[in-house]
Amino acid sequence: MIREWMSIVNHQEIASQTYLLELQGEISSLVKRPGQFVHIQVSSQYFLRRPVSIADVSPVKGTITLLYKVMGDGTEALTNKRIGDKLDIVGPGGNGFPVEQKEGEEALLIGGGIGIPPLYYLAKQLTARGVKVNSVLGYRSKADLFYVEEFKALGSVQLTTNDGSAGKQGFVTDALPSLANIDQYYTCGPSIMLKNVKKKLDGLPGYISIEERMGCGIGACFACVLETTESCGKGYVRVCSDGPVFRPEEVVLS
Ligand SMILES: Cc1cc2nc3c(=O)[nH]c(=O)nc-3n(C[C@H](O)[C@H](O)[C@H](O)COP(=O)(O)OP(=O)(O)OC[C@H]3O[C@@H](n4cnc5c(N)ncnc54)[C@H](O)[C@@H]3O)c2cc1C
Ligand code: FES
Repeated sequence: MIREWMSIVNHQEIASQTYLLELQGEISSLVKRPGQFVHIQVSSQYFLRRPVSIADVSPVKGTITLLYKVMGDGTEALTNKRIGDKLDIVGPGGNGFPVEQKEGEEALLIGGGIGIPPLYYLAKQLTARGVKVNSVLGYRSKADLFYVEEFKALGSVQLTTNDGSAGKQGFVTDALPSLANIDQYYTCGPSIMLKNVKKKLDGLPGYISIEERMGCGIGACFACVLETTESCGKGYVRVCSDGPVFRPEEVVLS
């Protein structure tokens, strides 16, 4: 993990209040796994950095792509940054998703809202290994859809929206495909979604990525602690440095 000023080479709104931000710098060559994140200092006005997942990496351009939704003041201020500006970034942080599946196996990727971005780079890595990728993507409404075509280019996609304006009305857990051929699942999204996915897919090997609020992002402040299960026996873990990716049976989801 390093700290560097990365150059903004692309920044555009791709859906309602959702932005694509492409940053060029050395951090792009340090990304080891999908599911890792960068910590952004939006400006000196904001004491805390904002964590955002790495949604894609281009080794050719030396860039990482982030997809972020405006949630509050920090992400709102980020939208004012322009191509050519530099951003103070720490990363890549976290352990990320292990990409160990073998050619011919099948993966189920389940993403909700701002949990969808890290699954895109994961889908690319899995398909590159010959793994068949099935994605279930959940959004609030049609205006919030992003990267649907990009996911479709990599495998099958089931779409859900809360209001039914696109895809199936409901939650990602209402649109899961047949699990008969699935060897492993990977999920990222709001806590309530992760909890329901874990319950529904009980018994299937999986990985969940937790996008909890963070402080330091480097394992020093304990702002992001999460309780582990009795069988895991690790007590409390830090989402930023021990995660954000865990086995579902390891952690207690609230
Ligand atoms: C490991 C990790 C990866 C993340 N990846 C992405 C990503 O790829 N794209 C993306 O858009 N966001 C991502 N997030 C969430 C992002 O960090 C927050 O949305 C952002 O920090 C909010 O900052 P803000 O100043 O705009 O909002 P704040 O003013 O801090 O908060 C505004 C509102 O957003 C809610 N909020 C804040 N943090 C989170 C969070 N972590 N999850 C859900 N709601 C939150 C608050 O409860 C509040 O209601 C990630 C978070 C983590 C921990
Ligand atoms: S955010 Fe400080 S320990 Fe995780």
